[in-house]
Parts: sequence; structure tokens; C-alpha cells
Amino acid sequence: MSAGRQLDNDRFLRALKREPVDRTPVWMMRQAGRYLPEYRATRAQAGDFMSLCRNPQACCEVTMQPLDRYGLDAAILFSDILTIPDAMGLGLRFVQGEGPIFDHPVRDERAIEKLPIPDPGAELRYVIDAVTTIRAALGSRLPLIGFAGSPWTLATYMIEGAGGSDYARIKQMAYDAPEMLDALLAKLSASVSLYLEAQIAAGADAVMVFDTWGGVLAPADYLRFSLEPMAKIVAHLKRVAPTVPVILFTKNGGQHLEAMAETGCDALGLDWTTDLGKARTRVGHRVALQGNLDPAWLFASPEKIEAAVRRVLDSYGQGSGHVFNLGHGILQQTPPEHAGVMIEAVRAFSPAYHQL
Ligand code: CP3
Repeated sequence: MSAGRQLDNDRFLRALKREPVDRTPVWMMRQAGRYLPEYRATRAQAGDFMSLCRNPQACCEVTMQPLDRYGLDAAILFSDILTIPDAMGLGLRFVQGEGPIFDHPVRDERAIEKLPIPDPGAELRYVIDAVTTIRAALGSRLPLIGFAGSPWTLATYMIEGAGGSDYARIKQMAYDAPEMLDALLAKLSASVSLYLEAQIAAGADAVMVFDTWGGVLAPADYLRFSLEPMAKIVAHLKRVAPTVPVILFTKNGGQHLEAMAETGCDALGLDWTTDLGKARTRVGHRVALQGNLDPAWLFASPEKIEAAVRRVLDSYGQGSGHVFNLGHGILQQTPPEHAGVMIEAVRAFSPAYHQL
């Protein structure tokens, strides 16, 4: 178990626990990915995206690429949130220009009843092997973040069968047959709990739950269909691995921060539509905050990026409890040097926010 691992650089884990740090730690959502030429080269060799995910050595290689290029404070497992529905037998394909597609979307009660809860040591063995391989390659250099999708976000893809929709099918189920959706979400909560537990056992030092689509729900529905299943996952992880920090990230979830902090998680991810300083006043005495520069800032000029970094640091203010990140994944067309400008600015400016 990762508890007690000695790391050369532990400021990410310290910030998540709101312990003093010398400067603000920084990493980027989707830091390994298509904006990097070295990623595109490895990906071209591996074939399609899922073949890359199923190859632990290649996953390790692309996880390390942004670490070798930039001064980042955390590594994140290279994988995808859709590995769980794929392991449930839905037939995942990534179609160029269309995103993820499931050949066997979940549409009725029978399909939900038939869904297995994947065994992380069997159907998802390739992910756990990637964690082990990456952990070994990192040594004591940096902490490793494991991750999974939130039950609501996974259910969205499983029911709609594809991304980029108006959520008509899953919302119809939520409104017409809420108990049916509850049953699916309960299976997903159990699956994600076991999956993250296995990632931790294999060497993940912190875990993050990506709730990409929780923000499309009305407030009461968010609490029932998105937050409640995530709360079950947090409760499970706090039982089996109490010292491992858990980060919850609901995109467009700024109005729910108090309820999210109530789950007992350690940190909340914020996108740029939420003011970091106001979020700190609301929940910063209970959880750390991660975020929240709009990734589109990385298309601006270096001087403008530096000023934007300063504004994010100013907005959080003095003291620990902030992990600098983008407010969502880095965009594919981002010039890699501009990501470097952001990271260097955090390293240069942030010590001033940690003076005792
Ligand atoms: O942050 C990291 O570097 C870790 C790797 C990671 C990936 N996906 C790699 C990936 C993580 C954490 C994810 C999460 C993920 N996957 C989410 C949550 C995102 C969030 O920030 O809210 C979602 C919704 C997915 C599902 C998914 N996977 C989509 C929509 C896509 C894009 C499809 C496309 O063709 O544009 C993917 C593919 C994917 N996952 C890529 C990467 C690097 C690109 C694959 C490629 O073509 O090489």
C-alpha cells in the first residue's frame, strides 16, 4: 500500500492534505496526449488508442513524456475512464473525429441486470499492470495519480452509446425510471470502488474521480445521480486506504462545492467558471482545491499566460491547499512550449504565496 512511501517530491500530496509547501505544486489534466509530438509518435507505433492503453510498457512511456519535458509535480496514469464499461462488455471503439462509441449501449433493465462488476485483477489487469510499471519507473521521483470516471459520467456514455449528445436517453431514464438508473449507478459505484482500490494497491499515491457530465443535471438530480454514487466511492476508499487523498472533479459543478466536500474527499477540482478565491472561502477549511486556468489561455502569448497564472495564484491567495492545474484537459492544438511557460510561471511565482 502506498501509505508511507517516501518521495523526493511530495508537495502535491502535502498540498492535498493542506500541509505547508515551499511552492504550489502543478500538473495538467491530460498532460500525456496528442499535443505532444512524442505522444503522437508512440501512439502511431501502438496503433489505435485502446491498443496503447492495453500495453503497460507503452502506457509507462507516454506517462513519463511530459515529466521529462516539464517540471511537473505529479504523474498521472495513462489510461481512460471508459476502461470500466469496456470491461463490462459494451464493445468500446474510438472512431476518428467522432470520439468514443459503444457497440452495445445499455438501454433497458435486462441489460443493466446482466452487467458484470469487472474484476480489476482480471478484465482490467492491463490497467493495474500499467500502474505497477509506471510506479517502478518513477521510483521515488514523483507521486502517481490513479483515476476513474464518475458513475454518472460512465453511465452517460453507456446509455447514450456515444459522446457529444444532448443526454436525452439517460435523462429520460432518470425522469421516467429513476430506480433503473439507480441500479446501474450502484453497479458502477461498486466497480469504480474496486478499480481505484486496486490502483492504490498497485502504487497510486492519490486518486481522482472525473465527473465530466455531472454539471448537466438540475441540482437535486446532481445530488442523487452524480454526487451520491461518488460519495459511496469516497466512503469505500476511506475504509480501505484512509491516508490516500481522493480528488473529486465535477466539470461545471461550482454550485455544489459544499455538498462535494461533505463526502469526506480531500480535494475538489475546479474549472475556470468558478472563482478560486470564493471557493476557498466556501470550502477551503475542509478540502484542498485544484485548478483552474482555462486551457484556452495556453493559446495566448507567453506574457499573457504568465499574467493569467499570477491571477490564479492571487485568487487562491497565501498558504497551502492549492494544486495548480488547468480547469479541464489540455487542448490538442496547444503549443507544447506554452504549457512550459505556464508550468515555469507557477514554479517562479508561487514561492511568494508560501511564506510563513
Ligand atoms: O490526464 C492524463 O494525461 C491521463 C489520461 C486520460 C485520458 N483520458 C487519455 C486519453 C484521462 C484522465 C482521461 C479521462 C477521460 N476520458 C475523460 C474525462 C475527462 C475530463 O477531463 O473530464 C473522458 C470524458 C474520457 C473519454 C474520452 N477518451 C474521450 C472523450 C476521448 C477523446 C476522443 C477523441 O477522439 O477526441 C478519449 C480518448 C483519449 N483519452 C485520448 C487520450 C490521450 C486521445 C486518444 C488519442 O487519439 O490518442
